[in-house]
Amino acid sequence: MSDTLLIIEDEQLLGSELMRHFRHAAWDVVWARTFKDARRHLFDRELDPLVVLSDINLPDGNGLDLLDEVRRHGGRGEWVLLTGYGEVPDSVRAMRLGAFDFLTKPCEQDHLDLVINGAARGARAQRRLQDESENRARRYMPDSFTGRSDPTRKVRELLTKLTQVPFSALIITGETGTGKGLAARIVHHGGPRAAGPLVEINCAALPHELLESELFGHEAGAFTGARGRRRGLLEQAHGGTIFLDEIGEMPVDLQAKLLKVIEDRSLRRLGGEREIQVDVQVLAASNQNLEEQIRNGGFRTDLYHRLSVFKLELPPLRERIADIRDLVPQFIAEYNAIAGRKVSDIPDEVWTQLESYHWPGNVRELRNVVERCVLFATDQRFPLEWLQLGSAAPAADAQGGTSVGEGRLCLPLDGSMGLDDMVGRIIEVMLHRNGNNVAETSRVLKTTREKVRYRIEKYNIKVSE
Ligand SMILES: Nc1ncnc2c1ncn2[C@@H]1O[C@H](COP(=O)(O)OP(=O)(O)OP(=O)(O)O)[C@@H](O)[C@H]1O
Ligand SMILES: [Mg+2]
Repeated sequence: MSDTLLIIEDEQLLGSELMRHFRHAAWDVVWARTFKDARRHLFDRELDPLVVLSDINLPDGNGLDLLDEVRRHGGRGEWVLLTGYGEVPDSVRAMRLGAFDFLTKPCEQDHLDLVINGAARGARAQRRLQDESENRARRYMPDSFTGRSDPTRKVRELLTKLTQVPFSALIITGETGTGKGLAARIVHHGGPRAAGPLVEINCAALPHELLESELFGHEAGAFTGARGRRRGLLEQAHGGTIFLDEIGEMPVDLQAKLLKVIEDRSLRRLGGEREIQVDVQVLAASNQNLEEQIRNGGFRTDLYHRLSVFKLELPPLRERIADIRDLVPQFIAEYNAIAGRKVSDIPDEVWTQLESYHWPGNVRELRNVVERCVLFATDQRFPLEWLQLGSAAPAADAQGGTSVGEGRLCLPLDGSMGLDDMVGRIIEVMLHRNGNNVAETSRVLKTTREKVRYRIEKYNIKVSE
């Protein structure tokens, strides 16, 4: 499909010349000879041109008035304006209306091509952004938090309220895979800050110093290795939302700094003097019990109170089993579409097993199970043989569902173990096998000693000498 270029030009000769030229360049050209004609295309026929090339002085109106009207109606597309030689264009007004460029007639063809191509690139980028954000807004509505159970209904009600009021902070708690990330996206994309950025950071993923400079940014030379200045994530989230995942892992001194930012609505970059205003909504998620962490000194009471003005508690899937009846068809439809399958019959035995399992990995685990079954399905039937849910009771394995065999290590792929825990477990087992010898362990794992040492510290692995 070729892109539409709307030419608004009353001069017959110039108009037909432009039309011929741009048709040749594979544009779908529409030529309007008057102001009224152009209005008819843009409003009555809802033409959505990628680029508009418009004369300013038309016999029955002004090109800028038309641009003004289009913008007020939310019309998109880039506008390039043409003025006659010797006319003084109302450039201030044109800039305010977001015109792409001004050209004076007569205009060199090469230059005109350059400008129109630039405008087309800009318009395409804008369109992509707009489509993406509309997509996200559709995908992340409170209704996208699927499930018919009472607890889930309550979650949806609270999500709906949260998208309707401006608020500064929210704590989202729940076991792994219960939908904390999904809830955060719904709150942002469904709420008044949807047009602003959503910046996500996992506080468990970075060591202390890096987390600090990521969050607060730094000036050049603030610390060794700080080349150049950098805006931190809190600054980048200005006007939008920051999602602090696994907030329970944030070091206590950074918690104090974060609290100050929330209260003062301003921050200083590392090594910086200047106070920078930031307006952010803070969503903090945790799968740990923060109240308990407060008791043993791992989390600051004041930050907790500041963040927990609103609290969203996501119950584990085993406490809302009724949701499975809605989640499963939704996930089947998704994977049918991705993998070109047509699974539609779900045998009773499948429901029975799904509804009696304890779901340690919650909705994520359910999603993974459905994915596997849809991919392995050979006809319309949901394949019972691929459910493989294991026992109905929690695995009585001290190693969190892993087991070590001769020369191999088994890790659960049912969503009950996250990547970080897997990596930690691998290092732990390898160290043990290699007599706690870091050099030997790093050699076998084909990595560096530094990386192994870093991970020993990060995952708090006990190394008995
Ligand atoms: N109520 C729900 N409706 C539809 N999809 C859901 C729902 N809850 C969770 N999901 C899906 O389950 C998966 C896991 O959810 P999510 O990543 O939000 O969990 P989480 O609580 O952030 O987990 P973790 O603590 O491990 O980060 C995602 O694919 C998410 O879209
Ligand atoms: Mg998450």
